[in-house]
Formats: sequence, C-alpha cells, structure tokens
Amino acid sequence: MLETTSYAILPSQVNKKEELRHPVQSICSYEWDGKVLSGMLSKGSFFIYFTRENTLRFAVQPFGEADVSPTIAAERDQPLDGVTFEPSEDSLVLEAGAHRVTIFKNSLSFSVSRNGATVFQTEAPCVSYTKEKQVYFSVEKETDAPIYGLGEKSGFINKNGLKISNWNTDVFAPHNKDTVELYQSIPFALIHAQDKTTGIFFDNTFRTSFDMQTYRDKLEIMAEGGQVNVYVIWGEDVKETVQAYTDLTGKTPLPPKWSLGYHQSRYSYTSQDEVSTIAATFKKYGIPLDCIFLDIHYMDDYRVFTFNEDTFPGAGALVKDLNSQGIDVVPIVDPGVKKDVHYPVYVEGMEKGYFSKYLDGDVYYGEVWPGESAFPDFFNSSVQKWWGGLHQYYTKLGIRGIWNDMNEPSVFNETKTMDLDVMHDVDGKKISHKEGHNLYGLYMSKATFEGLKEQVPNSRPFSLTRAGYAGVQRYSAVWTGDNRSHWEHLEMSLPMIINLGLSGVAFSGADVGGFSSDTTPELLIRWTQVGAFLPYFRNHSVQDSIYQEPWAFGEATMESVKKYIELRYRFMPYLYTLFHEAEQTGLPVVRPLVMEYPQDEETFQCSDQFLLGKNVLVAPILRQGQTHRAVYLPAGEWYDFWTEERYKGGEYHLIKADLDTLPLFVKEGTILPLGSPVRNTKEKQEIELHIYHSEQEVTGILYEDDGISYDYRDQAYSISTYDYKKGDLQISREGSYEATAEIIATKIIGKNEAGEDI
Ligand code: GLC
Repeated sequence: MLETTSYAILPSQVNKKEELRHPVQSICSYEWDGKVLSGMLSKGSFFIYFTRENTLRFAVQPFGEADVSPTIAAERDQPLDGVTFEPSEDSLVLEAGAHRVTIFKNSLSFSVSRNGATVFQTEAPCVSYTKEKQVYFSVEKETDAPIYGLGEKSGFINKNGLKISNWNTDVFAPHNKDTVELYQSIPFALIHAQDKTTGIFFDNTFRTSFDMQTYRDKLEIMAEGGQVNVYVIWGEDVKETVQAYTDLTGKTPLPPKWSLGYHQSRYSYTSQDEVSTIAATFKKYGIPLDCIFLDIHYMDDYRVFTFNEDTFPGAGALVKDLNSQGIDVVPIVDPGVKKDVHYPVYVEGMEKGYFSKYLDGDVYYGEVWPGESAFPDFFNSSVQKWWGGLHQYYTKLGIRGIWNDMNEPSVFNETKTMDLDVMHDVDGKKISHKEGHNLYGLYMSKATFEGLKEQVPNSRPFSLTRAGYAGVQRYSAVWTGDNRSHWEHLEMSLPMIINLGLSGVAFSGADVGGFSSDTTPELLIRWTQVGAFLPYFRNHSVQDSIYQEPWAFGEATMESVKKYIELRYRFMPYLYTLFHEAEQTGLPVVRPLVMEYPQDEETFQCSDQFLLGKNVLVAPILRQGQTHRAVYLPAGEWYDFWTEERYKGGEYHLIKADLDTLPLFVKEGTILPLGSPVRNTKEKQEIELHIYHSEQEVTGILYEDDGISYDYRDQAYSISTYDYKKGDLQISREGSYEATAEIIATKIIGKNEAGEDI
C-alpha cells in the first residue's frame, strides 16, 4: 500500500547501484558450415546467419553455448542458402546479394551494408553481461530517430526517449505513461529514418528492457537472463521491415468475417434472460450485431467449461437461438482451474500431471476468480491438446469463438503472477517461469486456436487474448485490456493499436466506451466513431459501472452510436479485403501515416490520426467538447467522406466535426467498395462503388469468399480489381468463388455529371 504514498520516494529507495557490467571482448575461434557462422568468444560463444537477404540472426551466450534452436516466436527462421563467407585478419564477412555483414573480431561488433552503404551498426563491443546473468546488447541510432513498435505500450507512437520493459502484467490501475508493463510483450522495435527502417527483434522471453533514454546515440537492450538473441532487419521503409518481421513470426490469419462485426460485451450479462434481452434490444432498435460475450458470471462458480445451472439453465438453447438470428456467442475462458476434487477438469488435469509445477513435482496454486486454482502447463503439447479438446464443451453448442483472459497469468498476490521458480515443461525441456512467463498467454492462445480448429472442421476460429508474446498474431486477436472511460484512454488506444500492428498484430482493438469508470454519452459516441474503424470492435464495461450499450443514454445518443456501427458494416467489404491483404503480406489493417508516407517528417510523430489500409484516413475527435480539429493530410488530394469536399494534401486543415461527425477522408484515385446495410455479417451485402476522381490512376480492389471456411485457400475466393479511366469502369476477376456481391451502384466523387471538376 505504501508504494502509493511518498514512501515510494524515500531516499534509500532511489539511486540503486547498478550491477557491474562486463563486455564480451573478442572472437577467439570460429567455424563456417556454409550457412551459419559460429564460434567461441573471450567469454561464451556466438553464432550469426542470414535468415533472408535483409534479415540476420545474431546470438551470444556469455555463460556457455549459444542456443541455435528455433523459438516459438520466430517459427519461420531458416538459415539462408547461397551466403558467402570471407575471413580476414580483423573481420569476418558474410554476403548475401547486395547485403553484407562485417563482424569485427576484436571488440565484438558488426555492421551491415546494402549496396555499399552502411545501414546498421552495433556498438563496439555490442554485448555485455553481469554476474547476475543479465545480458545487454547495444546498437547505434540517430539521436532523434523515431522508434515504433514494441507492441502494446502506453504513450504516443514514438518511443524514442523512453525506457520500455516487457513483462506481461495484469494492470487494472489506470494505464498511463508510467505503466509500461502491460499484458503483452513484443520485444520488436523499428528505428525509422527517411531512407530506411531498421527492425530489432530481441527474441528473449525473460523480462527485457529497451533503453532509448539513457544514451542519446544508442539503444541498449537488456534481458534478465538467457542469451542475446536478436534478429536485425534492414528495410527500405516501415512496410518492408514489418513484412520481413512477419515473415519470421507469422502473419495474422484471415479471421471469420463475423469477428469483424460489432461485438457487445459486459462484465457480466449475468443470466441467459439478460443475454436474450440484449439481443432483442439490438433487434428492436435495428442496430447491427454479430456477437455477444459471456463474461465470468456464466460459469458455475468460475469453473471454466461449465455453465451456471441456475442462471444459464438452457445455455445450448440460448446459443442456438442467437445463432439463428445471426449472432455468435463468445464465452470467456481463463487459465485458472478451480482446485476442487469434484470438478472433472481439475481431477483430469491432476491425474495427467497437466498443471504447472515446481521442480519437486508439487503443483503451483494461486488465487484467481474461482479461489485457489491450478494453471495448465500450456508449454507442453499434450497439455495444449487436452485443453484444446476441452473446448468441445462449447463447440458442440454452436460456439465458434473463445475469449482468453487473465493469461499473463494473473494471480491475486503481491507479485501478480506465478512463482518464478515454477518449472514449465516444453516437451521435455524444462524452463523456469522467470524465462517462460511472457510466453504463457501465447501458448494458451495456441491451445485455444488449435483446439477450435480441430473441433469445428473447415471453420476459421476466432480467439481473443489479453496476454501474448511476439507471434501471438498467428493464433489470436488482441484487446488492450482494462482501459477506463477516460478521454486520455480513447486517445491512447490509437498509438497502442498502431504499434501492435507494426509489431505483427493486425487484429486488435480496445474496449469501446472504456472498461472501468463511467462513460458519458459524448465519450461513448466519440469512442464508437473510433472503434468502428479499428480492426477489432467491441463495447465492454466493468460491473458496477454505468451501462454503455448503444441505447443506454437515450435516443439521440443511440442514433449517433448506431450510425457508426452501421458505418462499420458499410466499410466491411473494404475492411475484409484489408484483412486478406494482412494475411498475404503481414501489413497491418490500421496504419500510421508514416507507413504510407515514410519520407514525410510531418507523419513521424502523428499519434492521433491513422490510415485504414492505404487510402482511408481517420482523424477522430479525442477530447471532450471539441468540435474542430487540425487534420494533417499527406501528399495528394483528399476528399471528405461526408461532404465530398476536396482538400490539398501536404497541409494541415482545420476540420469541423460536430458530435455526430467523425473526420474521415478518402485519397483521390481510390475506388471504395461499400456494403449495403445489413443486420450482421451473415447477411449478404451488395456493393456500391465510390470512385474518387484523380488525374492519375483510379483503382480499387475487393476480396470476397464465404467468410467462414478455409476453402479460400483452395481457390474459392474472388478478387475483383477495379480500374476507372475516362468514364469507363473495368473490372477483372481472379479466383473461383462464384457468389460475389452484386454492384448496385457506382458514384463518382470529384466530378459532376458532365465530367467537370466540382
Ligand atoms: C479482467 C478482464 C476484463 C473482464 C474481467 C472479468 O479484468 O480484463 O475484460 O471483464 O476480467 O472477467
């Protein structure tokens, strides 16, 4: 408790002495096997290899042999073929095409060049360690270079000047600048300049920290254990670097379309009657809805894989009824399994030895919602299979999505998590919780995703997770946890989601309306405007807070909220197309301006606007009472989505936006496929093409498939490419999906009927 008073700054609490650091000085011997260069150092050992032409892996273990085995995050790491090796007296050179890495033998360090120009340089020496087995790695950087990525962190998009650490933590206390450790750990930073973007993925699962503050010209990364295990990516711009990072850690798979619709949640809808009433109220007011969430009260005393028989006596019938209305149901599943000898999940887990244990075999118990609980050891593939299989309980009722929470794992004790000396069993290899902590949520997501995929053949699973590590995008969407109904948290949701996208996670969102604290009509409207354009769109709130369903504040507020939920569905064809692109390329759905305009310095620090894909620019109102804001439009001409007025890019504009208006712009030359009104994604939409005039190319693209199965991987998709030239619209199609949407209208924006500028 005292930490929240001035006691926290007692003189003896500050100026803690740093551990003495020892640099790793030089390479003593080396071996080149045709792909991997490895060897002994003055302390410990190292290896280095290219994984593709613009990416290399470098590892140093000062305390023994460097571990070259692939990690769960970088599952697609493969040493590249065709690399040449050239030793000399002072250095060792590896070359792949135009890319060259020079490793200096004395004062261990390396630099990278592309076409002869240096693009990356470490410190010399670049690795040091302490006797407590912390390891450090330092690279040079420009003093003011913006630094992006690092997953889900508080603050603005540029992290330069900050110290960021990574330790998955359940933070209910308000998220603010000082709450750096949140639920996700993605130790991947992008250092940006006009002509290049360098990615540094420090794939070490211990607590890590990125110090971009202490030294002006270097970035120093520290891990509390393990080895320096770093991937360096040198891209020409943000896009190339993010693509290479997702080549390594995986792309966000195309989700089922229903998961992109509007989702309604509350901690908790406490009975099946209440859930039915919520669905009926959406119907009554004609508000589109794709999914309702069941929070922890649906369970029997918080036992996962159960329903409370008193309050949800007919769960199966409820799900069936909602499904028949086109509404999905997603229940929460936490990792904590109640210690109860009459509870089959607990008994089976104990009998099979599936819970996390100490070295001596004693099961670890911690307090969470159900009271004393055991925690599945998701690191083990038998446990993953078992847990995945348990989901039959839900899938046989017609449930197709699962919400994983509390999987940092969160435990109600002083440390907020499991004891660090609990040992996890990675299929025979034991790792301490100190090493595995940041992976717990990732492995749980994997178990959930793969379980759902197996239970419901040929159906794309939806899983939503709070905790994760690099690579989590392969299994789950991410929501940013317990935000509050504060305007500051609405504002912060943008950089959080943007940086998650730059860290490989294309599918993420924040609780719309704010989770805890009480929302207001104005905040709910403004938040819904933003949520409608973020990848994941769910309204969720805590118990005892004011209700924040769309109708909670009367008719006028409801109409405005409804308008933006409907707008989400209008944009669904465009959004779904972007998710398809994300699966192909790894590029995020929501992008910072710098991703599309990497040379425009005006975009480098832009945290309060974003692009949906390439051509739709969202500049929301993020402050109470505001009805105007400055909007930066990058190079080119832009059209106001609402008024169709044309604006010049490369400039700021003062835009008026009354409470019912979200400032929204479309780039010239875009053909935007908009969908007709529907009640949810299960209804078929027709298409209206909005053609935004330009003197240059005017193009658009629409991806379609059945929205749910994997048949699209077997040609059952359709990609329509639109080209508009001098009044003539050309459409070309690819793929064998037949049931494509009908184009019911085309509208040309920026020209009058006589073809003149307006
Ligand atoms: C955690 C989650 C929140 C959920 C609550 C009860 O606080 O972050 O979303 O509603 O637990 O399950």
